Amino acid sequence: MKVAVYPGSFDPVTNGHIDIINKTSKLFDKMVVAVIHNVSKKALFTLAEREEMVKENTKHLDNVNVESFSGLLADYVRQKQACAIIRGLRTAADFEYEMYIAMANKTLYPSAETVFVLADSKYIYISSSIVKEVALLNGSVAELVPESVNKALALKKAAMKI
Ligand code: PNS
Repeated sequence: MKVAVYPGSFDPVTNGHIDIINKTSKLFDKMVVAVIHNVSKKALFTLAEREEMVKENTKHLDNVNVESFSGLLADYVRQKQACAIIRGLRTAADFEYEMYIAMANKTLYPSAETVFVLADSKYIYISSSIVKEVALLNGSVAELVPESVNKALALKKAAMKI
């Protein structure tokens, strides 16, 4: 069975991420979306909130499981016996950063290949960081994220009283 792991912070999941999951899940028998605690980023949503938002928006895909974890990605990929690590690419700027991560993961767990999947052109400028900034400054992100995420951003903003 060919298993792929798609790791990320997903803080929050965007339409760009969902597009990558929709496309890539067709290429593997099973895809595990791993919502990760990224030690170098301060998250707006808790790990549990992020996991729930990804679950809600991938429930139409039978071969996709969503989990969260804190730790080394290579260990997680080994545990899942996955043959591929999926990362989405928007522009060449993404590639340089992603190449170093891919090389580190290849050294730590040589049995998995990193597979880069191109984002659809209509999602090329979308990132979780842009979504958070626009939403927290009262801009509309309805076109950039699933409806449930749009609502969650509004609730988070209200809770923060900004
Ligand atoms: O969505 P992001 O924040 O760009 O995802 C980055 C992520 C979470 C995939 C990366 O930070 C990661 O793999 N973190 C787990 C810790 C780890 O294995 N680090 C070594 C590889 S860089």
